[in-house]
Parts: sequence; structure tokens; C-alpha cells
Amino acid sequence: MTKNILVIGASGQIGTELSLKLREIHGNDLVIASDIREGNEELMQSGPFEILDATNFSDVESIIEKYKIEDVYLMAAMLSATAEKHPMKAWSLNMDSLFHILNLAKEGKIKKVFWPSSIAVFGPTTPKENTPQTAVMEPSTVYGISKQTGERWCQYFHDKYGVDVRSMRYPGIISYKTLPGGGTTDYAIEIFHEALKNKAYTSYLSETTGLPMMYMDDAIKATIDLMEAPSEKVKIRSSYNLSAISFTPKELAEEIRKHIPEFSINYAPDFRQKIADSWPSDIDDSEARKDWNWKHQYDLAALTKKMLDGVAETFEIN
Ligand SMILES: NC(=O)c1ccc[n+]([C@@H]2O[C@H](COP(=O)([O-])OP(=O)(O)OC[C@H]3O[C@@H](n4cnc5c(N)ncnc54)[C@H](O)[C@@H]3O)[C@@H](O)[C@H]2O)c1
Repeated sequence: MTKNILVIGASGQIGTELSLKLREIHGNDLVIASDIREGNEELMQSGPFEILDATNFSDVESIIEKYKIEDVYLMAAMLSATAEKHPMKAWSLNMDSLFHILNLAKEGKIKKVFWPSSIAVFGPTTPKENTPQTAVMEPSTVYGISKQTGERWCQYFHDKYGVDVRSMRYPGIISYKTLPGGGTTDYAIEIFHEALKNKAYTSYLSETTGLPMMYMDDAIKATIDLMEAPSEKVKIRSSYNLSAISFTPKELAEEIRKHIPEFSINYAPDFRQKIADSWPSDIDDSEARKDWNWKHQYDLAALTKKMLDGVAETFEIN
């Protein structure tokens, strides 16, 4: 069965690799990538691309009608660190884009929606260790508030209008093909670039700040597995906890040193420390593992090796 798929925010860190993987699975022509800006060469060359502002309802509707879209992956958003600098803009982008897609699905113009939430839905009053699916949620960032609100609306549109919306709370996603988009976990990507270029890195998070993280390939697999799962298996319609590994800047530096022994790390926490301190250090994702058989593949050692090789090759650093 063929179906047309639209990825919104396709030029971003996750959208790029998600679009490429979907093209590999479904065929290049069936996966329409879209974003407010052009993406990298591989994305632009491998299939259809549309410049699209996710906050403009009629433009989104026209693209969905033009390509007879069935599934939408809504990846456009303003991320945690950037959103703290532009709170109202972040709120408009993160909420308006979601409402447009949920309303189009409610009208029957889309069959299935993927919308990512984040560990940022949790806050300082949430249990930090092994954070359960259902826990106290008092997010302290604009980004976290937008994600928590988005989760409630996803649940509401599912319960009230039967919208088939699926979501997961991504941890920090680590990858090398595109640069990260202004999140609090970006240090865990920058560190590889600096380790290869300068053999030194100054972390904006303290050495003991443990956060949940995941290698990109695992995140893409989770996303596609959830979207392909039979509807009755998707029991949670707000957003699933999702996890793979957790590490601190110090632990990551030690792992990098196994490959680059002279690598050194310093710590100079900035405003992002406070954001990181409000988030869990590891997450209980047993519901995802039970409901749709989620399993991660990459541990810290495998992620480190992949990142060092990938960054060196992509950015031609020896
Ligand atoms: N990367 C992570 O570690 C992480 C963690 C948790 C959740 N998430 C979520 O995953 C999704 C994708 O994240 P990402 O890391 O790829 O972000 P990113 O910032 O790299 O990409 C977002 C993309 O959205 C595009 N965009 C911005 N405004 C737009 C608009 N008005 N219309 C259309 N496109 C627009 C940007 O140009 C960008 O290409 C977001 O919802 C984010 O909140 C990401």
C-alpha cells in the first residue's frame, strides 16, 4: 500500500534524517519534505521539497491537498534554549503548528499524525530518577510548557474527535549529519566536533549533570515503529516516555578519551544549567517497550564511536 507522507520541519536535525529514512522505506517521491528554509543537499536532491510555513493554516492545507497526504510528521518547533530567548515566538510556533495539523486531521484531511514531545515536559518537582510515564509535571521552560500543553491537546483530539495522533517524549538526540537546533542537550554533539578539531571542550553544563540521551538512529526507528504500530497497540495518546541511555559530560568525556587520549574538558555552566537541572536524569519507558516493543540499540560506547567517525568524515576533520 502506498501513501503520501509530509514531513514539516524536514531541514532540521531530526527532520532531515527522518525524511531520508522514510524515503528509503516508502520511495523518494512519496515523502514530501517541507520547511521554512532549504535543507542539506541530500535532502533537497533525494525527493520533493516545499518551502512551507507551519504556522500558516491555508498553506499547510494546500500542500496536504496538493499531494493527497495521509501521514504527517510535524517536526517544526523552537527548541528549549532558543525558546527561553523568544518565549512568545516559541509559543506561537509550537502551538499554532500543532493546532493546524490536529484540526486538519479532525476534518479527515490527514489519517495519522506524529508530533514529538520532550523530556522538557518534566520539571523540578518531578522525580528525577527513573521518571515514570505518569508523574508530577511542572515544566519551568516555555518549551516544556508548550510540549506539555501539546500533549494534552493530542489526547483531547484523540478522545473527542478520534484523531490518530502518536507521540513520544524524545530525550536529547545525538547525531552528526546536521547541526543541532538550539536545545539544552546540544553540548553532547558540540563536544565531538571540538574533540576532533581542538582536543578540548568547555561544557556549558556541569560535570555531574546526567541527562537522558539517544543516538539518532534509535530515535528514527522509535518514531517510525510507533507510526507503523497497529492503532490498538498505541495505548497512550498524550506521549510515551522514551529512553535509551543517560550520561554526564564527565562520563562522555571519559568515553571520548578512549579514542582521543589527549582530549580535555572544562566546565563553565551558563543559563542552560538551570534548564538541565529541572529535567530528569533518566526515564522509565517500560510502557513503550510493552505496548509497541520499543528497544534501543546504541549504548554510550557505540554512540561515541559512531559520532567520532561520522563527524570526522562529514566535516573532513582528521
Ligand atoms: N533534537 C532533540 O534533541 C529533541 C529532543 C526532544 C524533542 N525534540 C523535538 O523534535 C522536533 C524536531 O527537533 P529538531 O532537533 O530536529 O529541531 P531543529 O531546530 O533542528 O529543526 C526544526 C526545524 O523546524 C523548522 N521551522 C522553524 N519554524 C518553522 C515554520 N514556521 N515552518 C516550518 N518549519 C519551521 C526549522 O527551520 C528547522 O529546520 C521538535 O518538535 C523538537 O521539539 C527534539
